[in-house]
Amino acid sequence: MCGIMGYTGRDDCLGTIVNGLARLEYRGYDSAGVAVISPDAEITIHKKAGKLANLRDTLPEGGVAGTCGIGHTRWATHGVPNDVNAHPHLDPTGTLAVIHNGIIENYEQIKSELRERRGAVFTSDTDTEVIAHLVAALYEGSLPAAVRAATKRFEGQFAFAVVDIRQPDVIVAAKRSAPMILGHLEDGSMLSSDVAGLIEHTREVEALLDDQIAILTPEGITVTDLDGAASEGHRYTVDWDVEAAEKQGYDTFMLKEIHEQPQAVSDTLLGRVDADGRIVLDQLDFDPALLRATDKIYVVACGTSYHAGMVSKYAIEHWARIGVEVEFASEFRYRDPILTRSTLVVAISQSGETADTIAAAEYAKAQGARVVAVTNIVGSTLARTADATVYTRAGLEVAVASTKAFTTQIIALSVLALFLAQERREMFAEECRDMLDRMEALPALMHQVLEQEEHIAELARRWADAQYVMFIGRQVGLPLALEGALKLKEISYIHAEGFASGEMKHGPIALIDEGGPVIALATEGHVKSKVVSNIQEVRARGAQVLLVATEGDTEVKAHADHVIYVPDVHELLYPVLTVLPLQLIGYHMAVELGRDVDQPRNLAKTVTVE
Ligand code: G6P
Repeated sequence: MCGIMGYTGRDDCLGTIVNGLARLEYRGYDSAGVAVISPDAEITIHKKAGKLANLRDTLPEGGVAGTCGIGHTRWATHGVPNDVNAHPHLDPTGTLAVIHNGIIENYEQIKSELRERRGAVFTSDTDTEVIAHLVAALYEGSLPAAVRAATKRFEGQFAFAVVDIRQPDVIVAAKRSAPMILGHLEDGSMLSSDVAGLIEHTREVEALLDDQIAILTPEGITVTDLDGAASEGHRYTVDWDVEAAEKQGYDTFMLKEIHEQPQAVSDTLLGRVDADGRIVLDQLDFDPALLRATDKIYVVACGTSYHAGMVSKYAIEHWARIGVEVEFASEFRYRDPILTRSTLVVAISQSGETADTIAAAEYAKAQGARVVAVTNIVGSTLARTADATVYTRAGLEVAVASTKAFTTQIIALSVLALFLAQERREMFAEECRDMLDRMEALPALMHQVLEQEEHIAELARRWADAQYVMFIGRQVGLPLALEGALKLKEISYIHAEGFASGEMKHGPIALIDEGGPVIALATEGHVKSKVVSNIQEVRARGAQVLLVATEGDTEVKAHADHVIYVPDVHELLYPVLTVLPLQLIGYHMAVELGRDVDQPRNLAKTVTVE
């Protein structure tokens, strides 16, 4: 969700904060704002609805003098995205300013109390303004003490940072269930809601833990708990650099990330086999007896990660012979799932910060199940919550529409499936090794698919004025159909749906009209002929069909208006190839329509609220 930046040091802070916000803008981009403490200890606030560019336009040409400040990009939860609701927010006397990510769930109650007791008047619709008022009300000479006292009152998931003219070079931050990362600089201190905001300055970071307070000064950072006792966050070194946060010649981050997939898949496969040829997952050291006793797996995730989870169901059930249920993390803990010591919960999240997925993992742990995280971010909340972690190595993913996270998740989950099969003796080590060899061949084959981009883009442009697009598939083609539709709808705003092709005749086929575009996944496999039958049914009703099929399959051409070919691979590995044309179709349709592909409307990359 919202992006948070803060800097206190020897240099003017504005440039550092605004540049950091630019790297965080993918988290939310409804409005942006900064607060800088000027040398004469005044707070200067600039804030503006819309993207960061609007804020930049309103900033004075010569900048704003001051070496301590905070900045924010917003994804609106409380109150429409306008100038007034943009952060930072001030207390009634303009003494302190606050930026905030997340939700203060009891803000209405605190608001009423402040109105009754202090006659407080609120100028915005946000819950954030309540933080500013309450911290000010509790201030008795120490900003950290006031923040600690206020944090004790708050319910919900939040991270916030405060500056105060009475301590003009100090930033105080607090967090609960939303990320806040601290950057230790040689000559100052920084904070951000994401390492992307710090990476230009340092790779040595410290994740603040729940109910900790950070006090940032030019000399360094102190962390305490809510009672003021010295404490420490989780320190780690970020393993990617500033280059990862640049477009590197591509028009958009999404296109760059689509093309980074072969490398990301190859990186995710590195070091998964030991000297004896056995699959190893070095961050997963469960007792093998426990793995053998596992009788049920729940996969929980949101968005694109959920689709990767759906793909993994086929691999885990087929290779490791354990029953798998895949669930939206947001539904999981509200339906009393049956969890025991023999249950394994696999929680998938690119960011490792998605509130629903973390809550599902916490719930599962509390019920006695073991939790494996599959995440891209070392040190993320999900990685710290889980009993074990399998890391994807996609590198920084900036575009809101997830691409390389998806393919690397499928790879990491497939390795996990093979590992389970090996440990449970459902497959011989050589069989596992053979499958891994096939996976290692995928990056070169992915390049072959990506080389067809111009052909795919041309097809996509033809359909850019479509009213709707349907994606159909069976078996592993089904999650791909869902993912293809999700990509298209989130960046082009064209109505797109994915269906199990066998279900078309039970309802969705009624939507087909003359020339209506249908994209079908019909690669080789035991359900191909079934998909072909389903394609004939929609074509008979006037649909225009684009097929994703296996190279060399000339027969299938007769059933389609257009075909995109992908190389022949093992049936369960197709998703890593077939998703590429789907991503490119969504991308080029959106570009043709002039959409802002990297920052589509109403969305945010990391969803840290329920
Ligand atoms: C948001 C993003 C999606 C992403 C989902 C889950 O909705 O826009 O692209 O798939 O969150 O994110 P996660 O970080 O948990 O994988």
